[in-house]
Amino acid sequence: MALRNLKTISSKKLFVNLCVQYIKNNIKKRNMKNIVIIGCGKGIGLAAAKILSEEHHIIGISKTENPELNHPNIEFHQMDILSGNPDDIAFPEVVDGLVYAPGSINLKPFNRLSVDDFKNDFEINVLGAVKIIQKLLPNLKKSESASVVLFSSVAAKFGMPFHASVSASKNAVEGLTKSMAAEFSVQKIRVNAIAPSLTDTHLAAQLLSTPEKREASAKRHPLQRVGNPEEIAAMAAFLISDQASWITGQILGMDGGMANIRL
Ligand SMILES: NC(=O)c1ccc[n+]([C@@H]2O[C@H](COP(=O)([O-])OP(=O)(O)OC[C@H]3O[C@@H](n4cnc5c(N)ncnc54)[C@H](OP(=O)(O)O)[C@@H]3O)[C@@H](O)[C@H]2O)c1
Repeated sequence: MALRNLKTISSKKLFVNLCVQYIKNNIKKRNMKNIVIIGCGKGIGLAAAKILSEEHHIIGISKTENPELNHPNIEFHQMDILSGNPDDIAFPEVVDGLVYAPGSINLKPFNRLSVDDFKNDFEINVLGAVKIIQKLLPNLKKSESASVVLFSSVAAKFGMPFHASVSASKNAVEGLTKSMAAEFSVQKIRVNAIAPSLTDTHLAAQLLSTPEKREASAKRHPLQRVGNPEEIAAMAAFLISDQASWITGQILGMDGGMANIRL
């Protein structure tokens, strides 16, 4: 059936949608995974989209578009995951991977943190992830090797001043990770979280805005440097891959040794 033979705009639209759905569903035949990345516009999510798009089909969702996402394997949707409706996106029937990268670094003395600060941090770190996982669970269940990657923080593991709100949310992410890993293990859906320390992204820009701050931050890590988004994203890509097929319910620290080493 040729597109030009279709008379009405709605039948043309239907034809195009059916073709897109057919292509998405048949991507499996080329051994490409369908991977959804939330927060792919910057930082670790962007780095993950770049690595994973080399071999896989990426459905990227982020608040702001980034020209660096122009790649034949990346289908970008501009959406705020908290206020937007994921039902507006035609996800492939089978989703093999989900990376949820939005987060926050809201550092204030406890008595200056409002209840709304705690609510906002919980929304972006936890509820945004819950919303998209619930939406995609039927699609993840259809995969032969589904993997979900969330982001915690080194601040969840040990107490640091001014981190009360972000630490509360990131500990919730860790609880969510382990509970979902247990619940979904029968369906072979793996769920893990990466817990980075300070990583050189837009989110951490304020904390790394001068050479002095950068040096002080580097020195707080046993390996004497802060992280870079590519190395954290490489771990996300590994967790998505079948090489990690026996890893679930884990919180993987990537922190230059900060959480477990004292010099
Ligand atoms: N960087 C660090 O030092 C560090 C340390 C510990 C943990 N982490 C965690 O690692 C994860 C990734 O952090 P990152 O440093 O890569 O963050 P980032 O540089 O801020 O990038 C996050 C991306 O998510 C997008 N995003 C934010 N809120 C969104 C929403 N509501 N809907 C859709 N997209 C949204 C952002 O959109 P825009 O492009 O519009 O901003 C941005 O593209 C986060 O969970 C963070 O808490 C980071």
